[in-house]
Amino acid sequence: MLCPPVIAIDGPAASGKTSVGRALAKRLGYLFVDTGVFYRAATIAALDSGTPLDDEPALARLAAAVSVAFADGGARALLDGADATLRLREPDVDAAVSPVSAVAGVRDALLGKQRALAEEGPVVMVGRDVGSVVLPRAAKVYLDASPEERARRRFAELAAAGAPRSRSAVRENLDLRDATDSQRERAPLAAAPDAVRIATDGLGVAEVVERILATLCAERPA
Ligand code: C5P
Repeated sequence: MLCPPVIAIDGPAASGKTSVGRALAKRLGYLFVDTGVFYRAATIAALDSGTPLDDEPALARLAAAVSVAFADGGARALLDGADATLRLREPDVDAAVSPVSAVAGVRDALLGKQRALAEEGPVVMVGRDVGSVVLPRAAKVYLDASPEERARRRFAELAAAGAPRSRSAVRENLDLRDATDSQRERAPLAAAPDAVRIATDGLGVAEVVERILATLCAERPA
């Protein structure tokens, strides 16, 4: 199969980007990069240092200083060398990440780091603005699902990870993040015009991966 070397997957919170992106990258032998981790890392730096979330220059400086690396095919994230996989999904981070991500200086500081990682090889990169801003020449996919389905998935994921939260808290956070991420001025969540759009309600990860492969890749000539 001949597949594009750079694949961008964007979509709202809990639309399946991370599970699908990771499975697709594994299948193709590509690097997997979850750009949400960069924004979550900058948010953790702000929370842990007590930086006010309206101090935009300070947030931009913190974002410029964060060091993000991935291990285990993207399943674990290292912040400044230490495993922060569980910390990334904690409620205080979920609550603060969208306002931090809306700061233009934060986005400017993280963009170069994301592009540098994509240089390291064929890559599947997932997020909100990967196809529209970070890697505009990538083959683009936009995943979506109904708010109910996305809340159900995130609720189950958190419970399985041993960090259960109420259904209503999960839904509230997804709704709030979607609104902030879609309405911000800089790089809002939006499907690029040339993105392949897939509604993932009722589809398993493997089925979505198959659809992406069928759409983006060509059979190798015999
Ligand atoms: O993908 P995830 O839900 O982990 O992303 C967390 C937050 O990071 C999003 O709600 C959004 O505010 C921000 N983000 C972004 N641009 C990206 C990826 C994530 O603004 N490319």
